[in-house]
Amino acid sequence: MTRKILVTSALPYANGAIHLGHLVEYVQTDIWVRFQKMQPKDKVAECWYVCADDTHGTPIMLRAEKDGITPEALIARVHGEHFRDFSGFHIAFDNYYSTHSPETQECANTIYGRLQNGQLIEKRTIEQYYDPVKQMFLPDRFIKGECPKCHAKDQYGDNCEVCGAAYAPTDLIEPFSAVSGAKPELRNSDHYFFKLSDPRCEAFLRQYTSSGVLQNEAANKMQEWLGAPGDNKLTDWDISRDAPYFGFEIPGAPGKYFYVWLDAPIGYMGSFKNLCAQKGIDFDEYWKPDSTTELYHFIGKDILYFHALFWPAELAHAGFRTPKGIFAHGFLTVDGSKMSKSRGTFITAESYLTTGLNPEWLRYYYAAKLNSTMEDIDLNLEDFVARVNSDLVGKYVNIASRCAGFIGKKFDGQLASTDAAWLKPLRDAATNLGEAYEAREYSRALREIMALADVANVFVNDKKPWELAKQEGKEAELHAACSEAIEAFRLLTLYLKPVLPTVAAAVEAFLNIAPLCWTDAATALPAGHTINAYSHLMTRVDPKLITALVEANKASLAPAVEAAPQKHAEKQEKAAEVAKAAAEAGPHISIDDFMKVDLRIARIVDAGHVEGAEKLIRLSLDIGEEKPRQVFAGIKSAYDPATLIGRMTVMVANLAPRKMKFGMSEGMVMAASDTDGKTSGLYLLSPDSGAQPGMRVK
Ligand code: MSP
Ligand code: ZN
Repeated sequence: MTRKILVTSALPYANGAIHLGHLVEYVQTDIWVRFQKMQPKDKVAECWYVCADDTHGTPIMLRAEKDGITPEALIARVHGEHFRDFSGFHIAFDNYYSTHSPETQECANTIYGRLQNGQLIEKRTIEQYYDPVKQMFLPDRFIKGECPKCHAKDQYGDNCEVCGAAYAPTDLIEPFSAVSGAKPELRNSDHYFFKLSDPRCEAFLRQYTSSGVLQNEAANKMQEWLGAPGDNKLTDWDISRDAPYFGFEIPGAPGKYFYVWLDAPIGYMGSFKNLCAQKGIDFDEYWKPDSTTELYHFIGKDILYFHALFWPAELAHAGFRTPKGIFAHGFLTVDGSKMSKSRGTFITAESYLTTGLNPEWLRYYYAAKLNSTMEDIDLNLEDFVARVNSDLVGKYVNIASRCAGFIGKKFDGQLASTDAAWLKPLRDAATNLGEAYEAREYSRALREIMALADVANVFVNDKKPWELAKQEGKEAELHAACSEAIEAFRLLTLYLKPVLPTVAAAVEAFLNIAPLCWTDAATALPAGHTINAYSHLMTRVDPKLITALVEANKASLAPAVEAAPQKHAEKQEKAAEVAKAAAEAGPHISIDDFMKVDLRIARIVDAGHVEGAEKLIRLSLDIGEEKPRQVFAGIKSAYDPATLIGRMTVMVANLAPRKMKFGMSEGMVMAASDTDGKTSGLYLLSPDSGAQPGMRVK
């Protein structure tokens, strides 16, 4: 039967940056989806990958308020940032949407309505802490106080970070609101509950969680949560929150909102529904109770409870299909410990990319560590460098770089026959490797692929094309050896394609072949096939880049606003280090990467000194917008502000605005200098005459 598959990754919260921890999951899912998309259509007819930002809840509401913007503006900005970061790591969603969408709201209302009709929703009055100053009910995380067990001060309302005790916020000694500092009061409020303790839910969940949809470890955990048969441990789930709240108002309950975790998984449906409208896919075929399509959720082990209990119970009792698999992964540690801001190991996706590290290095490293269990995975930074350099550059790329040149130079780019017996195991590996990818045993797949790369390297080492090339009468042998090695390289590329999509695309261009599919393993490149000139596919990781990366993530800790002058200089130094390391060792960027930089012609309409800043000039730049942009430029050593007024230059217009001690800096002007920017001066760029403010530079 041909498969139709819908895959999701968890929806990241819309109030934080994507970091390397998140990426474990998105890389894991993306590899699986890309593998499915390489299957022939009669095997996998469709595989859709959807995700979205998780946009609702109190933290997002408060964060927007703090930033002085609406929650809608906040989630729009973060959506752009998340999408940029995921694209940077080649995560190929078919749709990256938002839970704050009409589709999600419609699905949430439908599910809620059906649960209500099924007598599975109950209204109850509960007592909850209320902040009388801020005039809102407080989620547990926004109440602090002294731990009732160990008496540590300043602990959250749900558990103590010092002794690990779990408790109710009402157990805290001297509680206070983390929002306003006020002493919270207990107040009554009506809440809506999903009756998870209902015998129908219990019976369904006992059956569902032991039906093979969960990993063993997860299934065992669920049995603990469910309690032994006859001892139902499930408790009803509070799915409503009081205004003020950023979310969807509950139909028929003014002032009450769906709790963020109610509509978050429904966001999977909402995102898919939106995709269906774009592509003409039949939504119901995927979501009806007897659907023969497959639904898989990739998640972190921390959110198993929501995905393995609440979500399937809701679906089953609202007349929808349930997930066919819930795949939980472990947590990322860096150098053996939890990611830490002070050590610089809380690494954002953005900083990884702007430091100039190649996203496919990380994809490879994660894949080399990932399997189908919930074990944590460690990013050991030294091992990362060693692994990528030895496997990808030393073993894989090396095959092509040692053989391709001869085909081009000596044989007009034409291959000889590649039908050699030693290649058979490489060809036959497609089955095993396919099974490993399907089962999310990526580390096993990559181990086997590297063992095949070893075989190919032994072949090249034995044949020594570089020596054959110097000997007379050895042309045929040289031609055969290089052609066979290229065929081995094609097979390895095919197997690595789910992990290294852009390298694979470059190899497809180099080999002059159509995009590789899984079944292409069976068909050798024919004799006489012409390949294109080889250009280098991947550079080695320079360990300096790793140092720069860790430094960059330490640096981002100190808020720019409070940076003392000396700190500021330190930061500039670090930034320079980062840029230098990137320039020395960075790989090529694509035209798409370059196009992300919005360069504009700017007229300097005003320029002046900045009191208290040794290096800065304040510029007002007209780029054809309503109001000129303010930019602080470190060019004081080279220019008198008065001479700049009226000049044209080039600015980066889409740099995130930066709050500095002196005000907002809304972009950057471009100047030439030697690498350290000190010894031989600074030279502001100017366009040729005729360029107008606001013109795009590309
Ligand atoms: N918004 C919820 C998910 C809702 S799904 C309907 C959420 N968001 S999150 O941003 O905190 O996490 C998104 C995903 O990233 C989760 O699956 C989470 O487990 C995963 N990870 C977050 N930090 C991680 C690590 N340090 N390591 C591995 N995965 C991590 O939870
Ligand atoms: Zn404690």
